[in-house]
Amino acid sequence: MILASGFARFKRAPLVMATGYDFPFAGILEEAGVDVILVGDSLANVVLGLQSTREVGMAEMLLFTGAVARGAKETHILSDMPFGSDSDAATAVANGKRLRAAGAHSVKLEGAKLEVVRALTSEGVPVVGHLGLLPQTAKSFKQVGRDPAERDEVLRSADDLAAAGAIAMVLEHMSADLAAEVTRRVPVPTVGIGAGPGTDGQVLVLHDFLGMHAGVYPPFAHAFADLRAAALAGAKDYCRAVRTRAFPAP
Ligand code: KIV
Repeated sequence: MILASGFARFKRAPLVMATGYDFPFAGILEEAGVDVILVGDSLANVVLGLQSTREVGMAEMLLFTGAVARGAKETHILSDMPFGSDSDAATAVANGKRLRAAGAHSVKLEGAKLEVVRALTSEGVPVVGHLGLLPQTAKSFKQVGRDPAERDEVLRSADDLAAAGAIAMVLEHMSADLAAEVTRRVPVPTVGIGAGPGTDGQVLVLHDFLGMHAGVYPPFAHAFADLRAAALAGAKDYCRAVRTRAFPAP
């Protein structure tokens, strides 16, 4: 298992991160060799069918973190700090410790909340930063980094996060050249999602890369499987077998 102190080596070797939310898929991701399982607050959308990641709180993150920890005992587990759980340093430290107790090895938080990052780090809760598109507070879902002021802010935030002690940072939906520039200048691994090939590692949402839903897929997602089709076929077979009395066998 990669410990927080082991993240530095992923400045050279590509880090594979995938979101995971439950016990059986955590086991599959671990067996596949994923380096880090992110219990993302995207579970609001892909698991719970909610509109916004702001609609989940600590109760949900603790429940799903525990399930993933039980399913992947040998893999680094990174849990999102849900909206509001990192509003100030003391609140963040208390909630970060609860996520650690539930099985997370590190936590991720959106934006350059430097005092919070420093407090968590000094209390033994390793932090992964998250820059670019920040779903908890975004007003639009457009790509980040085309506007020069926006670029400067991302670059400054990346420097500040690394200096504050972040062990890595996720770069979401930003122009590939900006993500590559961040990657060149920070000493910690960057993990991109919709940020081009120039980051140190990549992260994708489980339900997107396994083709598990019939909703809208982000333009940068790639389906490596079609689990929805397989599950639908199996469920239809079951319905047919019961209705024709082919199942159960006498
Ligand atoms: O919650 C999540 O799944 C995330 C990824 C999009 C990086 O934060």
